[in-house]
Amino acid sequence: MDIREKMESLAAELLRYQEAYYVQGKSLISDVEYDGLFDELSRLEREHPEFADPNSPTQRVGSDLTSDFPEVKHTIPVLSLDKAYSVEEVLAFMSRCEEKGKEHLSFVEEEKIDGISMVLYYEDGSLVRAVTRGNGAVGNDVTANIRTISQVPLRLKEKVTLVVRGEVYLAKEDFLKFRDLDGAANPRNLAAGSVRRQKSSETAAVPLQIFVYEGFWENKEETPEDHIAILAKLKALGFRINPHLALFSSSREKSEKRLEAAGLEGRGYEFDDLGSYIREVTEKRSSLPYEIDGMVTKINELDVREEFGYTEHHPRWAIAYKFESPQAETTIEGITIQVGRTGRITPVAELSPVALGGSTVRRATLHNQEYIDDLEIAIGDRVSVVKRGDVIPAVEQVLEKNETGNTTYRIPSCCPCCGTELTAKGAHLYCPNPECPDQVLGRITFFASRECMDMESFGPKAVELLVSNGFVKDIPDLYTFDYATLLDRGIKGVGEKTVTQFRLAVEESRKRPFSAVLTSLGIPEVGKKGAEILIKGGFDDIDKLISAARAGDAAAFTAIPQIGPQTAALIINALNDKVLLERIEKLKSAGLQFHENRGENSLDQIFSGQVWCATGSFEHFNPRSLALAEIEKRGGRTTSSVTGKTTHLLLGKGGGSKRQTAEKLGVKLVSEEEFLEMISKGEVITESGHDENGQLSLF
Ligand code: IVH
Repeated sequence: MDIREKMESLAAELLRYQEAYYVQGKSLISDVEYDGLFDELSRLEREHPEFADPNSPTQRVGSDLTSDFPEVKHTIPVLSLDKAYSVEEVLAFMSRCEEKGKEHLSFVEEEKIDGISMVLYYEDGSLVRAVTRGNGAVGNDVTANIRTISQVPLRLKEKVTLVVRGEVYLAKEDFLKFRDLDGAANPRNLAAGSVRRQKSSETAAVPLQIFVYEGFWENKEETPEDHIAILAKLKALGFRINPHLALFSSSREKSEKRLEAAGLEGRGYEFDDLGSYIREVTEKRSSLPYEIDGMVTKINELDVREEFGYTEHHPRWAIAYKFESPQAETTIEGITIQVGRTGRITPVAELSPVALGGSTVRRATLHNQEYIDDLEIAIGDRVSVVKRGDVIPAVEQVLEKNETGNTTYRIPSCCPCCGTELTAKGAHLYCPNPECPDQVLGRITFFASRECMDMESFGPKAVELLVSNGFVKDIPDLYTFDYATLLDRGIKGVGEKTVTQFRLAVEESRKRPFSAVLTSLGIPEVGKKGAEILIKGGFDDIDKLISAARAGDAAAFTAIPQIGPQTAALIINALNDKVLLERIEKLKSAGLQFHENRGENSLDQIFSGQVWCATGSFEHFNPRSLALAEIEKRGGRTTSSVTGKTTHLLLGKGGGSKRQTAEKLGVKLVSEEEFLEMISKGEVITESGHDENGQLSLF
């Protein structure tokens, strides 16, 4: 085998592993073996640049060369979709189609992914161009950036020439992780920004994903028989297809058989089910890991598609039902600045109260200066406010400028709380003063919250009282302050009872396990789950974490499978911060748990964040307190009465009024038998309708 053949065979092998891993979620070889092959190919490419291929699997990391996205003509008309704003309109579309008397007619129902429309051109099985939709006739060539998306096949399993349409998107979870990169307001904007990065290495840094939904074969004879077969074929070629797919025909059985024959996931239904299916998906859409902005109904049969034809704008054989984002009009009365616990500055629009999506909205985020400048927002402007997906309300558009001459708002250059000059990090401004009272307030409230130290009496109001009076300047002061002195000062609403509650909460918090303490420190990316991952990964003591961070040992963190280099860098950075290290030292002296005690805490904290109450008598737990102890050992809190905060009621024999209250409040009822099962398996009752990945399981 000569060098060129060697490089080709290595590339083919690596592409196969990438497809298995990123598209099908399967690992075919070990990381070490994969890295070995990857490094070998990279080396050969460096030594023999004359043989380097732009579709090499090594090109996923992108490059730092800038690109200006030349305009290119599409070879197929890249049409849009006709829109419907109600399920009734979709059903009307369906009956219009049926009227044509097509008894072999069927419909495919797909999610309308809220991302960036992408057109992928393949020649002889190789990706040659990736082009944005543009105006449908001409788009921008963004090939270098799209190549970095691991789910985009660079070479297909067959040497076919075809055009594939799909949607590039960003998962909600990844949006939350990466939004600081450019202050994007939602996953779609961040995906759009990433696709248009001038340096493909920057696109590569964002975990963009793709679902493809249409294919157009150059050789018409190769075109599969119907849309279902097109999807199956695209899947077989190595593309990622959305498994949330449904087929509607004259009988459920027929639909199911068709999907099965094509080897596709998805559900089969009869025509009459279409309305309720769309309603069901609409209702459950917020539990999907990505945003969808509607549902697409498409005729499955290609000959019928041909017959129906196209307008200039859209095919006549499909319709998109668009979910309307609840939207309202109101006036910006003022703009305030919020200082978060990390010092991050968020401008907030104070609105004339307005009803929106079932609640009254008084405030909406303006994100950052860039966002304000883009929309040219000024105080007094009449604006539209939307609730997009499950994100907090945002000002979307200025409808009418104010008449008082207010100009576009500028965030002040100093912290509105402590006066310190703000510093910029990415798209956001930060207050760099760790003693800034607003930051302290946020930090302590977070520390005391249920998921962290679970100090119920230290809610936002109580913390505000302690901070604003100067009694508490930082978290460790909670453990040194003499709460009894509050009584001498005659503070309104603070009596013996409050003081006892404060003391008790402080005392109890010393028993919280290391995982809770670690979460409560507010280290970026180290939430409840992150803390558990670190501990299970061997960081069972704060000193282990600190010394790995001090040594800048990213590998010690990335050795844990769920931790990537970006998270590792954030953790290392945080744990080298002098202020945090001093805080940790003081909390150690205060007696908090900085070591995971395997002996006592070997039990999974399955009830963490839950509040349980028990009623009646039990067979296995006599007295009842034995059951309560089991709950507490597993991180749950227990109370003697059912209140709005109660999450579970353990039901014994003869339980009375508590059960009624619990039922009224929608508290989960758990029988002794169920409880025994939970504690023996270490499982939590999950919400119905979700599989173990937290994904919607209509399927
Ligand atoms: S089919 C000729 N299917 O929605 C076929 N489009 O508003 C036209 N989209 O430009 C597209 N999910 O970017 C189709 N499952 C899906 C889709 C989808 C998202 C986007 C696509 C299109 C836009 C039209």
